[in-house]
Amino acid sequence: MARAAITAVGRFLPEDRLTNADLEKMVDTNDEWIRSRTGIRERRILWDKDKATAYMATEAAKDLLRKRGLDASEIEAVIIATVTPDMFFPATACLVQHAIGATKAWGFDLSAACSGFLFALSTGASFIESGRHEKVLVIGADKMSSITDYTDRTTCVLFGDAAAAVLLEPADEGYGILDTIEQIDGAQADLLCMPAGGSLNPPTHETIDKKMHFLHQQGRQVFRYAVEGMADVSVEVMARNGLTGDDVRYLVPHQANLRIIDATARRMGLTKDKVMLNIERYGNTTAATIPLCLNDWEHELRRGDNLVLSAFGGGFTWGAMYVKWAYDGDKVAASAEAEMVAEG
Ligand code: ACO
Repeated sequence: MARAAITAVGRFLPEDRLTNADLEKMVDTNDEWIRSRTGIRERRILWDKDKATAYMATEAAKDLLRKRGLDASEIEAVIIATVTPDMFFPATACLVQHAIGATKAWGFDLSAACSGFLFALSTGASFIESGRHEKVLVIGADKMSSITDYTDRTTCVLFGDAAAAVLLEPADEGYGILDTIEQIDGAQADLLCMPAGGSLNPPTHETIDKKMHFLHQQGRQVFRYAVEGMADVSVEVMARNGLTGDDVRYLVPHQANLRIIDATARRMGLTKDKVMLNIERYGNTTAATIPLCLNDWEHELRRGDNLVLSAFGGGFTWGAMYVKWAYDGDKVAASAEAEMVAEG
C-alpha cells in the first residue's frame, strides 16, 4: 500500500491584527490574564464582511500551488476542514474548487471543530492509500470572528481567522503519514458548541436575541478533557510506533491553549525546542492551526524528520498522527524566494 505524504504547504493570514490591548478596550480583560492563561498576544481578523472562509482557503491554496509550481487542474480532490463554511451549502470546497480552477476535482467540507484538519488529512490520506487519487488538497480554514461574541470575554480573546493548505501525494517507501488515531465522543457535546443555525434551532429572532449563533464554551471543563485527551493520544501514537521523546523532531499541536500544549509535550518527554508554537501570534484558528504551523516551520523541516500532529476540539473530537516528513523544506523556501526575485 502506498502511503500518503505531505509534499507542499501554503497559507493565508488576514492583515488586520487584534491585540490584547485592543480587547482591553472591548471587554473587561487584560493582557496579563490572556497571556498567562492562554499564551495569546494577538490574532488576525478578516473584518471584511464580503470575504469569508472560502476566500481564505482559496488564497492558501493559491499560495501552495505557486510554491509547488502546480497547475490546479492536476488536483483530484479538495477537502476543507471548517466549522465556519461560507454557507451550509454549497460546500466551501465547491467555492474553492471553482476559484482556483481545479477543473477535475471533486470534494467536500468536513466538520470536526479543532480536530477538523487532522480528520481531513486522515481522510485525504485514505484516497491516496487506496490508489484512487494521486493529488489531494487538504485545507484547514476558519473565520472564527464570524461566530465569536465580542462582548463575551471568556471566548473572544481566544480565536482568530486563518487558512492553510497541504498537498497529499503518494509517498516513497517509509515516508509520509505512517499512523493515525482518531476519536470522537458526543457525551459532552454541549460544553463547546454553536447552539443555533442548524436544523435543531433554525434562525429566529429569539435565537439571535439569546446569542445562540455564537460559539459557546465551558472553558474550564473543556480544558480538563483537552489536556488529558490530547496528551493521551499523542503518547499512544508514540508508544505504538516505538518512538521516544528523542526520536520526535517536532510536536505539531493544535493551538488552543499554551498550557494544554505544554502538558502534552511534557507527557511526551519533549523539550520546548521540539514544539511548534505560534498561538502567541494567531490565537486559536480552529482547523487552520496545524497546517499553519507546518507552513511556518517548513524551512526547518528535513526529509526523515519524525512529527507528531495532535489535536482536541469541540464534539469532542481528538486525535494524533505520526508523520515521517517527506522533503527538505529549506530547498522549497529557497526556490520560492528565487522565484519571487525573478518575478521582481
Ligand atoms: N479576562 C479576564 N478574566 C477572565 C477572562 C478574560 N478574558 N475570561 C474569563 N475570566 C475569568 C473568569 O470569569 C473566572 O473568574 P471567576 O473565577 O471569578 O469566575 C476566571 O477568569 C477563571 O476562569 P476559567 O474559565 O476557570 O479560566 P481558565 O484558567 O480555565 O482559562 C480558558 C479559560 C483559556 C478558556 C481555558 O479554560 C481553556 O483553554 N479551555 C480549553 C479550550 C480548548 O481547548 N478548546 C478546545 C478547542 S476549541 C474548538 O474546538 C473550536
